[in-house]
Amino acid sequence: MKIGVLGAGAMTEALAAGWVRAGHDVLIGGRTPAKAEALAGRVGARSGTLRDAAEFGDAVLVAVRREGLADTIAAAGGALAGKPVIDCGNAVDTADFSQVTYRDGASMAEEIARLAPGAHVVKAFNQAHASVWAMTPPAFDGRPLAVPFAGDEEAKPAARTLITALGAEPLDAGDLRQARNLEAMAIVVIRLLFSGHDPHSVFAFTTPNRPTTR
Ligand SMILES: NC(=O)c1ccc[n+]([C@@H]2O[C@H](COP(=O)([O-])OP(=O)(O)OC[C@H]3O[C@@H](n4cnc5c(N)ncnc54)[C@H](OP(=O)(O)O)[C@@H]3O)[C@@H](O)[C@H]2O)c1
Repeated sequence: MKIGVLGAGAMTEALAAGWVRAGHDVLIGGRTPAKAEALAGRVGARSGTLRDAAEFGDAVLVAVRREGLADTIAAAGGALAGKPVIDCGNAVDTADFSQVTYRDGASMAEEIARLAPGAHVVKAFNQAHASVWAMTPPAFDGRPLAVPFAGDEEAKPAARTLITALGAEPLDAGDLRQARNLEAMAIVVIRLLFSGHDPHSVFAFTTPNRPTTR
């Protein structure tokens, strides 16, 4: 698949590297051309402008900080219309690690849908740190990382392809409205991490007496 990436930071480096390893053709577009070019060189991708990446991709990843979201989508122009657009962002205020929402409590993914009419937006990859996405494959205790995603039906096949390309397991978490919950979940974990807690001790889910199938 041809994958365009908007943003040239830590998430792009981890995800794009995995997709290139899996045989996908990736073009990284950044607001700072030298940064995008250097990153693309490290992971074996192409580089260009934000608009180039939006035009190139059969699917497009948005991987920018919330402060740059509106400018980034504007720079992509109308090129996102009709395409699967995967948003990995977490709209967090780093001053106090509180969640930032958009109109009427909307998520960052819904804000992308508003800013890019016609784009088919899915939220995915926002739940784990970039270092997890850089794992080959992301797996824990011998089990592949489960990756919840939520958004437009039209974009879900592309989201599944991008998740499985990393060796992770896609989990459909619903429609675009559910992106609010995926962002809230991640921001709870980010806040715990930055306040010195171990989120594993909070999210230590167990499955006692799980029925066996054989
Ligand atoms: N890092 C993680 O572990 C992680 C995990 C899950 C989700 N996320 C989310 O994924 C998204 C990308 O994270 P990241 O770690 O890749 O971020 P990052 O390394 O800080 O890179 C952010 C990218 O956003 C661009 N940007 C555009 N306008 C900006 C502005 N006004 N202010 C700051 N940056 C701006 C930067 O441009 P330049 O290239 O010009 O600097 C850069 O390419 C964020 O929404 C983050 O919350 C991150």
